[in-house]
Amino acid sequence: MPSYTLSVNGEQMSADADADTPLLWVLRDHLNLVGTKFGCGVAQCGACTVHMNGMAMRSCVLPISAVGDNKIVTIEGLSAAGDHPIQQAWEELDVSQCGYCQAGQLMAAAALLKNSPNPSDEEIDGAMTNICRCGTHVRIRKAIHLAAEKLK
Ligand code: FES
Ligand code: FES
Repeated sequence: MPSYTLSVNGEQMSADADADTPLLWVLRDHLNLVGTKFGCGVAQCGACTVHMNGMAMRSCVLPISAVGDNKIVTIEGLSAAGDHPIQQAWEELDVSQCGYCQAGQLMAAAALLKNSPNPSDEEIDGAMTNICRCGTHVRIRKAIHLAAEKLK
């Protein structure tokens, strides 16, 4: 079985896995980074969203062999103290309900704000394709606006 060294949350981490193993399972099962969740496994729900070089990626369909030297950030690495403005905004507006989708939502929102610091409702709706079965989308939109204010 091949061995891969990945840059995850600023550290070099190694895992032995088949080339087609999705990054999601390498993070969860090999590196014990279980904040990233499994939802659909087919790039539809966004529960598994991480950043690759700052871009939101659905890790359930990204084979470990395709990661190479690209820098991966998971919810555990978004901020050392869990106080990224997006996390503060989520807390202030009580966004989460069951919480299952929220790591993916936060990662998608953080990537959106990096590319578009002051997004309109339409931009948010277009970029935030992550699914929330609890229906927190309206609060998510508000929290993204609040985080954008905090980031100014
Ligand atoms: S688990 Fe990856 S998009 Fe649903
Ligand atoms: S908070 Fe429950 S699925 Fe989104």
